[in-house]
Amino acid sequence: MSWGPARAEFPVLDRLAYLNAGTNGPLARSTHEAIAAQERSDVESGRGGPAYFERALALRDEVRTKLAAVVGVEPGVMSLATSTTNGCNIVLSGLQLEPSDEVLTTDGEHFGLLGALAASTAQVQVALVRELPPEESLQVLLDAITPATKLIALSHVCWMSGNRYPVEELRRESGLPVLVDGAQSAGAIPVDAAAVDFYAFSCQKWLCGPDVTGGLVVVDPERLGIAAPSYLSQESYDDVGFVARPGAARFDPGWTPPPSLAGLSAALDLAPEGRFERAVQMADRCQELIAERFEVVTAPGQATLVSFRPDEDPEDLVKRLYEHGVVVRHVPKLGWIRVSCGWWTTEEDLARLLGAL
Ligand SMILES: Cc1ncc(COP(=O)(O)O)c(C=O)c1O
Repeated sequence: MSWGPARAEFPVLDRLAYLNAGTNGPLARSTHEAIAAQERSDVESGRGGPAYFERALALRDEVRTKLAAVVGVEPGVMSLATSTTNGCNIVLSGLQLEPSDEVLTTDGEHFGLLGALAASTAQVQVALVRELPPEESLQVLLDAITPATKLIALSHVCWMSGNRYPVEELRRESGLPVLVDGAQSAGAIPVDAAAVDFYAFSCQKWLCGPDVTGGLVVVDPERLGIAAPSYLSQESYDDVGFVARPGAARFDPGWTPPPSLAGLSAALDLAPEGRFERAVQMADRCQELIAERFEVVTAPGQATLVSFRPDEDPEDLVKRLYEHGVVVRHVPKLGWIRVSCGWWTTEEDLARLLGAL
């Protein structure tokens, strides 16, 4: 499908300059129809019987395969986590780090990762890279590694500044395991999750999937503990133990509702050719327009988020923009405004934003 007809699938875009996929992407009509059809089937035919389970398990396989393709891995290393936060927690709890171990992270992380780090027993070291030019962050992070560092955990694209962090280079140059928070990258920019060890992401953002859907890549599933097994983790069990399912499916946290899986599968089909190029192009254009009037925080040529410093109270500005049909968000504590540009974003959307500003 080319991008014009694909864009027409999102009813919200007829009404609003919807520039907030970094929180929740727009939902397509086809996604809604797939959810509704599965819900109708659940109501009319019941959530049981061989046909129901066959369909539900086939949907799990289908979604696992499509998600794996999105981030460039084999389906066998993909777990159907429910969110980025859930994926980060699965990894941190499964690693069972010691109190003397260190995890290196950055000062540009979301609580989705920070919460899991805080709950782990390891010590958390924070490298100050949030406001550095992106090309300087690799060295600062490498210099912060100590003999006690057991994991580097950071986002691929910083949710505050919109800048990229050098996740693949860190993995290569440090030789340490790397956990990536891919909430602002999966579906937004090309991703090669096999180049790191763990890649957690959300599907409700740039992949425009239903709520409470996500993915977690575990490149070497045998080497991560299963800290919170679900029924789906085991191939067989007895009174005292279980045999884990092969691959990363063992980390599946539970039964994703089949309507959500059906909706996600439909959403993943809406991937027009050239979508990554187009999204970054629109973000660059957005940056160019905003820079004429405001100080832009995001470095040029990053990903799909554009952050800038407004010259009025950011919360008030977000409300005022919404009254003008423009949806963006502010970054708490830093006072920035963040604009999310997708492949569906048009010049008209940007003109509406600039006009309302
Ligand atoms: C970088 C980052 N990580 C994690 C999250 C949390 O995502 P989820 O709700 O899928 O756990 C977000 C959400 O905004 C985010 O921007």
